[in-house]
Amino acid sequence: MSEPLVLGIESSCDETGVGIVRGTTLLAHAVASSVEEHVRFGGVVPEVASRAHLEAMVPTLEQAYEQAGLDVRDVDAIAVTSGPGLTGALLVGVAAAKALALAHDKPLYGVNHLAAHVAVDQLEHGRYTEPAIALLVSGGHTELLLVNDIATDITLLGGTIDDAAGEAFDKVARLLGLPYPGGPEIDRVARDGDPTAIAFPRGLTTGRDLDRYRWDFSFSGLKSAVARHVQHEQRMGRPVAVADVAASFQDAVCDVLSRKAIKACVDHDVPRLIMGGGVAANGRLRHFVLERAAKAGVEVRIPPPSLCTDNGAMVAALGAEVVRRGIAPSPLDLPVDSSLPV
Ligand code: KG4
Ligand code: ZN
Repeated sequence: MSEPLVLGIESSCDETGVGIVRGTTLLAHAVASSVEEHVRFGGVVPEVASRAHLEAMVPTLEQAYEQAGLDVRDVDAIAVTSGPGLTGALLVGVAAAKALALAHDKPLYGVNHLAAHVAVDQLEHGRYTEPAIALLVSGGHTELLLVNDIATDITLLGGTIDDAAGEAFDKVARLLGLPYPGGPEIDRVARDGDPTAIAFPRGLTTGRDLDRYRWDFSFSGLKSAVARHVQHEQRMGRPVAVADVAASFQDAVCDVLSRKAIKACVDHDVPRLIMGGGVAANGRLRHFVLERAAKAGVEVRIPPPSLCTDNGAMVAALGAEVVRRGIAPSPLDLPVDSSLPV
């Protein structure tokens, strides 16, 4: 079979995304974000996100058709994120995908959002040889995965036991008086700071914690340490050195993420690391990962920022892999699952 032409729909959080791919070739990548509507709440409000998806779905589909110069009648299959994510938000994308599948007699494929974050890399760098280790870091998730087959065999090695990595960035940014989303702000402000100024804790990296939580992460202790530092400075009547705190916090997060990701590659004898999620855009994380990977002989694949954050192209990319493998389509009563496992 020639490479399948797949339409992908994503609506698990605050981005309405529609992508069209032919195999590993990206043909359309349209995204409408409701992030601005969540700014004043300091985080994603599920009800607001669902309503925004409803409004954005048809215009985003049309934008993707225009980019690709084709429409749903031309595609071989329709893929949609069926989980994990916000239930109400997922329902909008899945309802749209079902309607299109039914109206145009196309096979429907419900796919996993986390696996899609991994699959998207091939639109940029081509197909990779499996297995691979994947590090997914965003506002909603922090996972370390062992990918033996992108469509059928992924093992969750570990994840966060409290806050997601992006959530930690967002919460610390708030403590420092920086706007939401906080990750890009901290990334920017930290460039003028000294990352060694404050010795913040590296959660679950030593002693019994490491034995018990080998591939897991914890960022809430780090967030509390930043809060205590800020309160202490304020009590002492000193201005908070925002750039230094941001840089020291950022290094603590990126040190742990990169250390465990590369260690997972070495211990599982997998010479390939794929990164995804909004936090993968972080400059310091890229620096740490590339430095450690070079020493360990690990190839690193990081998609460009526009493909790292939530989008429909990643769903289409994974859908194409599922179709290529001849896997049966999902039923038209495909349910959503907010905590769908990989
Ligand atoms: O993948 P994404 O767009 O949405 C989901 O959460 O699924 O990721 C958004 C998260 C936010 O927490 C944001 O603060 C963080 O990614 N982020 C960053 C950077 N850019 C986005 N965190 C650190 N450094 C960045 N440059
Ligand atoms: Zn995501």
